[in-house]
Amino acid sequence: MEDFNNLLKDIDLSAEAPKEEPQRQYYYMAKAREYVKQLSKRLGHTPTCHIATFGCQMNARDSEKLMGILEQIGYVAADSENADFVLYNTCTVRENANLKVYGRLGHLGAVKRSNPDMMIGMCGCMMQEPDVVEKIRKSYRFVDVVFGTHNIYKLAELLVSRFESEGMIIDIWKDTDKIVEELPNERRFSFKQGVNITFGCNNFCSYCIVPYVRGRERSREPKDIIREIESLVADGVVEVMLLGQNVNSYGRSLETPVTFAQLLQEIEKIDGLERIRFMTPHPKDLSDELIEVMKNSKKICNHVHLPLQSGSSRILKLMNRHYTKEHYLELVEKIRREIPDVSITTDIIVGFPQETEEDFLETMDVVEKAQYESAYTFIYSKRTGTPAASMDGQVPEDVVKDRFDRLLEKLSGISAKHIDKYVDTIQDVLVESVNDHDSSLVTGRMRNNTLVHFPGESGLVGKIVNVHLTEGKGFYYFGELSDN
Ligand code: 5AD
Ligand code: SF4
Repeated sequence: MEDFNNLLKDIDLSAEAPKEEPQRQYYYMAKAREYVKQLSKRLGHTPTCHIATFGCQMNARDSEKLMGILEQIGYVAADSENADFVLYNTCTVRENANLKVYGRLGHLGAVKRSNPDMMIGMCGCMMQEPDVVEKIRKSYRFVDVVFGTHNIYKLAELLVSRFESEGMIIDIWKDTDKIVEELPNERRFSFKQGVNITFGCNNFCSYCIVPYVRGRERSREPKDIIREIESLVADGVVEVMLLGQNVNSYGRSLETPVTFAQLLQEIEKIDGLERIRFMTPHPKDLSDELIEVMKNSKKICNHVHLPLQSGSSRILKLMNRHYTKEHYLELVEKIRREIPDVSITTDIIVGFPQETEEDFLETMDVVEKAQYESAYTFIYSKRTGTPAASMDGQVPEDVVKDRFDRLLEKLSGISAKHIDKYVDTIQDVLVESVNDHDSSLVTGRMRNNTLVHFPGESGLVGKIVNVHLTEGKGFYYFGELSDN
């Protein structure tokens, strides 16, 4: 933070904006600071900002970058939407995510009517859909800035445009081949951090809108990733989560190609880093090399999130997933055999077009055989523009609901069985927070990602400690600090 302050102070705002990044954004951050200062005088307080983040870990990570920029230009973070600048970082992976955003935005419009200096921004995946932007332009005219997933790094520049003109500023890019490094960053946790390794997705699963809204896959250079993690570790981070839509395809498009397993081995060498997590690997190209590296690693956590989506090879083909039920089960078996005490979790979609009862029973069969530690389950949601949206045989709602309930019941029975496995053992737990409901407890995570609650104080947050697990509670444990 110090560094950015000095850097921005020395920028000559009477000169033209530089063309190259990130220098151009430093210039606009310095300029935006001046506008925020004026706003502050007018308001009589330091302007506040709030980012509401919808959706996945990619969006959570983007929001940290956006907050980093806002704090550099002089906003202070507020807990609620009663703020001078409110930014919605949206998700569009399922339709109800969109509906939620419109509902909240309508409400925010009413708040803005009583505070005309308030500004509202919309960004993230929903904004990459032309219909959404059209709707905002027509029906939510009180919105000040609209931008997408490819140009979040331009927030300061867009705000300057808004400060200098009337009306809504809209800047959406269809795609990009650019990755802008070295921008501010406001981290949510002092001890753990998500780190992007790839952006975008090239898989085009037929139900999924992500490739259309996040663009083609781009990998960051290994040296940039390593440098970022080294500086995080120097700053107290002990756990990183490597983020990509399909981490297995990391590095293929780099000038000097590198595999994901090779990247992991480099990250493993970073002194002071204790735990490495990643998400999400695609089953179609989870390599033996990766399993080998995980097996021999002291830092990579024994947790694999391996999205199944469907257990029916016929539906998987329609989904364009490029694996079969048998291939998936072999993979699960190999992972369980090679990586001791691994936990395997998954994503499952119910009610994909043409899914029959037999197809669904194949999914139930995989769930039984894979014995997932836990799973995220989704009802298929039709996303306009994806191939599945125009497929025949959409499954009736009541049939989907019935399958969904049966699946949940099966999954919860299986997770409950797992949770007894480690009762009366001692496990290392990274303490993440004071417990929300009972402040005499702290909450942390085992290496396999299971939650543990145990008596402790806030001083333990960020530390890895040994915990004796005393009781399994369905999907988490109770325990007590152990001296061993
Ligand atoms: N409908 C339901 N679930 C979906 N997912 C992605 N697209 C859809 C959709 N159209 C789920 C997948 C993916 C997770 C992040 O979201 O299971 O793995
Ligand atoms: Fe969507 Fe498939 Fe890409 Fe995941 S791998 S983001 S499900 S298209």
